Amino acid sequence: MIVAIDGPSGAGKSTVAKAVAHELGFSCLDTGAMYRAVACKALADGVDLADADALAAIARDARIEFLHQCGEPMPSQVAIDGRDVTAAIRTGDVDRAVSPVSAVPAVREALVAQQQRIGRAGDYVVEGRDIGTAVFPEAAVKVFLTASAEERAHRRVRQNVDRSVGSIDFDEVLADIVRRDELDSSRASSPLRAADDAVLLDSTAMHIEEVIGAICELARA
Ligand code: C5P
Repeated sequence: MIVAIDGPSGAGKSTVAKAVAHELGFSCLDTGAMYRAVACKALADGVDLADADALAAIARDARIEFLHQCGEPMPSQVAIDGRDVTAAIRTGDVDRAVSPVSAVPAVREALVAQQQRIGRAGDYVVEGRDIGTAVFPEAAVKVFLTASAEERAHRRVRQNVDRSVGSIDFDEVLADIVRRDELDSSRASSPLRAADDAVLLDSTAMHIEEVIGAICELARA
């Protein structure tokens, strides 16, 4: 069974997806981390972000792994070609690079194929931008989770503090969120949008527990 959670940056998808997976006894897949890992490797290798073929080669050939810390139920670390990029994929450089990388159709094709292989191996909560529309259009539960841009920026700042990956400036984060919303929604290949049969959840004024409870209820119905 697949529970698809889509929505814009900072809507709380990661936290909610992990908690829902934990409640339901499912595994959890963060597809944004895969696009981020490809962007991170492209930057580290000095690849020109306008070179679609080189970006597609990374997405096709690099080995992306989600790793568990000993005793943790959900994976908390990401590696690409054996390099731990857990912190590196959350930097401002990767925030800026990831939208152009994810707009390359051949990058999406390669990562979507990997996501489908992973998700079909078990019960998964899968979070991203195009899960309900393109990756798992047959998902049993589809949720489109959003919140106001300001609220999402506040959450992103808090999340970075919690993840101990350094403090970031609120105005910069807000500008990045607005810019990425625009790029992700306007790209030609699988733009960010709610599936026609998705349940829309605006979490701006909701407590996270309410959001988690609402999605678990949908999955158990
Ligand atoms: O969810 P997160 O903010 O980590 O995603 C980073 C970026 O990866 C998004 O801004 C988007 O460009 C891309 N992405 C995507 N499709 C997905 C997940 C993420 O295009 N399924």
